[in-house]
Amino acid sequence: MANNARLVLDGKETDLPVGVGSEGEVGIDISRLRAQTGAITLDPSFANTGACESAITFIDGEKGILRYRGYDIAELAEHASFPEVCYLLIHGRLPTRAEREDYRTRLTRHSLVHEDMKKFFEGFPPSAHPMAILSAMIASLSAYYPEQETPEEIELNIVRLLAKAKTLAAFSYKKSIGQPFIYPRNDHSYLENFLLMMFAVPSEPYQVEPVVRSALNKLLILHADHEQNCSTTTVRTVGSGGANLFASISAGICALWGPLHGGANQAVIEMLELIRRDGANYRKYVELTKSKDAGFKLMGFGHRVYKNFDPRARILKRAADEVLAKLGVDDPLLEIAKRLEEVALADDYFVERKLYPNVDFYSGILYRAMGIPTNMFTVMFALGRLPGWIAHWLEQRNAPGARISRPRQIYTGETARPWVPLDER
Ligand code: CMC
Repeated sequence: MANNARLVLDGKETDLPVGVGSEGEVGIDISRLRAQTGAITLDPSFANTGACESAITFIDGEKGILRYRGYDIAELAEHASFPEVCYLLIHGRLPTRAEREDYRTRLTRHSLVHEDMKKFFEGFPPSAHPMAILSAMIASLSAYYPEQETPEEIELNIVRLLAKAKTLAAFSYKKSIGQPFIYPRNDHSYLENFLLMMFAVPSEPYQVEPVVRSALNKLLILHADHEQNCSTTTVRTVGSGGANLFASISAGICALWGPLHGGANQAVIEMLELIRRDGANYRKYVELTKSKDAGFKLMGFGHRVYKNFDPRARILKRAADEVLAKLGVDDPLLEIAKRLEEVALADDYFVERKLYPNVDFYSGILYRAMGIPTNMFTVMFALGRLPGWIAHWLEQRNAPGARISRPRQIYTGETARPWVPLDER
């Protein structure tokens, strides 16, 4: 690989350095392009732009590879626990046995939220989307833990954030159904505590179903990081301005909310329900997708990076079969999803555009089987993505020579014109 790329602009040649990543990806370094040539690059939606160097997650979209810190996603989903993956992403290596125990204990012991925060929930209408509540609550944590300067303070706040986010998520659900908040217990693991706070009521004992716990573990691990996606880029961008951890993560939660990103898992179930109500005529909806005027997309299909298959979707499709069978759940939406996938994958429109099911296509069916309501699906995605966002926030903060993110633009508006007094307009 050459060390330089040569650009010819208006007959003038400029050499640009070429960088190569540890997996062989090539990037032309244009950081001095404007100073050298007066021009900028234009790449709306950043499909060809590397915004940083990162050592956290590797994706090869053509080969369907996803690795966190070098470990394959399938192996992690099979063998790891979610707190272990949090540690891996944030610290860069797997914890030893002692470190793992210590981390799990801390993630449990910091689960309680300040009692005053419970009052915030009273201000939201019962119909409030849990993502609205979660983003507001996470940003509010910065009011309770303002010390965020030293590495020790930041490390403690990272543990607090991971521990308390699940409590705030579960409380937002309890608020929406008018049930009392359930407090976490220190003899419960991270996932058990979340399920307890979501589903227990004070009037009877609650037993965590092992199948549900293990499915949740897999789901959260599969969502834990995905390099420079929309919400992670948001977290890094907000963090680059010096915003604190909680504010930056809250911005990431808002970015995740949209239906093209994390909100797709809710949109998939709504789409499958629509198809079911309409007589399960999935062929009609595949056809509808092709008509640009209909404005209908197959939610849970397509990906900016994966052009062959999404390894997370493969794992979740298998898991959906296993978990629903173990729980004895017969969900007609699973059948519709499989038929839809089959028809779409054999259709030229989808084949030509390399559109495959993504992580959100089967995740909602699993969440439904676990008893998690549809409007909580994106919150589940956010809980899973937390360690990834945190790892990226830290990485950008500690990167040598880190500067504030500030893209340029090509201006297409009016050129200079004189002020028009009011009575002349
Ligand atoms: N259904 C039908 N057509 C589609 C779909 C879809 N789901 N996705 C892309 N296309 C078409 C699109 O219309 C375009 O066609 P044409 O070339 O004729 O104009 C072509 O495929 C390329 O699509 P694009 O919109 O340029 O692709 P993108 O990289 O900008 O968008 C995406 C990626 C994920 C936003 C998009 O595929 C999509 O909207 N999918 C549905 C929403 C979804 O499932 N999002 C979850 C993504 S995975 C979880 C996450 O990380 O957030």
